[in-house]
Amino acid sequence: MLTARYLLRALRFCSSAPCPRHKPSAKLSVRDALRAQNPSGERVKVQGWIRSIRSQKEVLFLHVNDGSSLESLQVVAESSFDSRELAFGSSVEVQGQLIKSPSKRQNVELKAEKIEVIGNCDAKAFPIKYKERHPLEYMRQYPHLRCRTNVLSSILRVRSEATAAIHSFFKDSGFVHIHTPIITSNDCEGAGELFQVEPSSKIKLPEENFFNVPAFLTVSGQLHLEVMSGAFTQVFTFGPTFRAENSQTRRHLAEFYMVEAEISFVKSLQDLMQVMEELFKATTVTVLSNCPEDVELCHKFIAPGQKIRTYAKKQLFNWGIDLQTEHEKYLLKHCGNIPVFIINYPLALKPFYMRDNEDGPQHTVAAVDLLVPGVGELFGGSLREERYHVLEQRLARLGLKEAYQWYLDLRQFGSVPHGGFGMGFERYLQCILGVENIKDVIPFPRFTHSCLL
Ligand code: 4AD
Repeated sequence: MLTARYLLRALRFCSSAPCPRHKPSAKLSVRDALRAQNPSGERVKVQGWIRSIRSQKEVLFLHVNDGSSLESLQVVAESSFDSRELAFGSSVEVQGQLIKSPSKRQNVELKAEKIEVIGNCDAKAFPIKYKERHPLEYMRQYPHLRCRTNVLSSILRVRSEATAAIHSFFKDSGFVHIHTPIITSNDCEGAGELFQVEPSSKIKLPEENFFNVPAFLTVSGQLHLEVMSGAFTQVFTFGPTFRAENSQTRRHLAEFYMVEAEISFVKSLQDLMQVMEELFKATTVTVLSNCPEDVELCHKFIAPGQKIRTYAKKQLFNWGIDLQTEHEKYLLKHCGNIPVFIINYPLALKPFYMRDNEDGPQHTVAAVDLLVPGVGELFGGSLREERYHVLEQRLARLGLKEAYQWYLDLRQFGSVPHGGFGMGFERYLQCILGVENIKDVIPFPRFTHSCLL
């Protein structure tokens, strides 16, 4: 058996041995080239796609972008370069000298010595037109190309940065990361919005389920996290989640990413709300400090188009009725358009796992939602029912006792008060970037009647 230490030693040996096929390369990302402090003619190689092209009498200016930053690198070439193939959208490799730019518009530029076109771009057929601003709805038709536009690439860089920030937040707070399963036999939310998983007909066994039981794509990793919080105290997961909801709204997807945390020994909703708030703040501070230009671009080009919707002034709230979008908007506006926590929902509206507040005729559970302006519900969480007999009775009433015997077991073997929450990652991005439609903050959106690519 090879140990990790042995493998590391072997790898160190490989990388320190000179290898004639891997000569030191001066390849730079556009981002690193732009960050060069005092460039003085170092020879570098940059690869990317042409974002703009302008030819003057004696010189040719190109802007090359490789997705590492919003800003492109200016490449200056003598007009003797054959510019016929240098078209907007083509991929190129440029070698030359990195120098301080004489223009105030940028700090550095690349004085080209060699420009190689790697792949031509047929400008006529290319749906992205030079110097045009394309609406997000238009670009949705081209999920394979829209990442080449400034706005989408900024959104996706922020998405990547926010993902890393969320992992750092939990790691720094002592949480253990758990990979919860994508295929599961339970319906955590009990809403029946499940996609069933079966082999394609060719390999289907007659009259048998592949897993012996009906299996589904997960709607939430919560129940598996609850298992793990019984050993690791604080756990989280961050992965794809699936809901077969037939809703074509600007904030629902059939496949979305959810950040979920589960914490043992938590006794009050206040403690949960504090973690939710800290997660939101820490992630947003990191995103703002690591990619301010991307965030600014989104705010400049997307957010002003957002419509603040109004709602009719009428009797909106009746006890026992679930909150609809209209109610959420009313509450947000009433509170001055700031994030708003709502706690203690009627038991009848909520899933079986939420802790009974035993508060008489109102009969509520210790649930919490966080609403944010422009989006509505961003987080949903609760204290979990940790008392064996209370949970047993609830499951029996719902006819779920047999199916959830393993879940009941957890209350029998060292049960503790605990709670957790889930945050819709796409809704988080919509909220901080001011993006109207959830389909524009995920690389490949899946929703009713649409699964492009
Ligand atoms: O409120 P939900 O359904 O909560 C749960 O699934 C819990 N089991 C989470 C937990 O406690 N571990 O979903 C959590 C969040 C919502 O607040 C919302 O932001 C997002 O997930 N969400 C969706 N996002 C996009 N498209 C959908 N169809 C969504 N459904 C929920």
